[in-house]
Amino acid sequence: MDVAGDETRAAWAIASRKYEDEYAEHLEQARTVELLPAEVDVLAELVGGADVVHPMSGHGLDDIALVRLGARSVHGLDYSEAAVSSAQRRADELGMPCRYTRAAMPESGLEGACADLVYTGKGALIWLPDLRDFFTEVHRLLRPGGWFYVYEAHPLVPLWAWDADEIRVRPDRGYFASSHVNDSFPANGAVERQHMLSTIVMACRRAGFEIEHLDEHPEPFWYPGGVTAAVWDGRVPNAFSLLARRT
Ligand SMILES: C[S@@+](CC[C@H](N)C(=O)[O-])C[C@H]1O[C@@H](n2cnc3c(N)ncnc32)[C@H](O)[C@@H]1O
Repeated sequence: MDVAGDETRAAWAIASRKYEDEYAEHLEQARTVELLPAEVDVLAELVGGADVVHPMSGHGLDDIALVRLGARSVHGLDYSEAAVSSAQRRADELGMPCRYTRAAMPESGLEGACADLVYTGKGALIWLPDLRDFFTEVHRLLRPGGWFYVYEAHPLVPLWAWDADEIRVRPDRGYFASSHVNDSFPANGAVERQHMLSTIVMACRRAGFEIEHLDEHPEPFWYPGGVTAAVWDGRVPNAFSLLARRT
């Protein structure tokens, strides 16, 4: 039994209530939502007419942004019923070509070669104990020449304390650790997997991808409300993005 996986699912079963609680707020955001500028820079040229699969799709706002950028369709996958049902309701309400299915990655349950782009991130890779399985599944889902894109928290982020006055490394965290227990909203209690940047890149290559773009970003993809942390002042990495092509 994957005990950490069970704890994480249990934590998400509670945390995912936010998808229903925040439905109205997300619906308003969805009317104008766009991807981050760094994502648009990379994806704008290759998303036109693409069929996209989005593992760990969560609230699904990025799916609507992907359609706005030119995607033909987006298929979101998440193991949370609250996530997939609220995202489907929102997409239907806005007339967006997005559909949602419950799936526990790395088993998507989808046909192979169904996607031109697999998009994920913003709190996704940290839930996967084995990136090799995940990248193998992403490779299977893509048509030859298809793209994998991830915009994700930098692997250093678990080390950052949120002190306002100085950049500090948490004494209870290490870059080379394999996991830690999340102690903040929303997935409090979930076991977060730590994958080093080198592990992510090498797992992607070994699954049959060519890395086309790798970047590190000072801004986090998400700012928890009411916190001002020195680690967000531009001096240290808080996110990374990777674009890879299926060979
Ligand atoms: C932090 S959220 C982020 C998702 C999305 N990027 C967003 O911004 O809403 C992570 C999501 O991953 C889902 N999840 C975690 N592990 C998963 C797995 N193994 N398979 C499918 N979904 C998973 C959770 O249910 C949750 O909705």
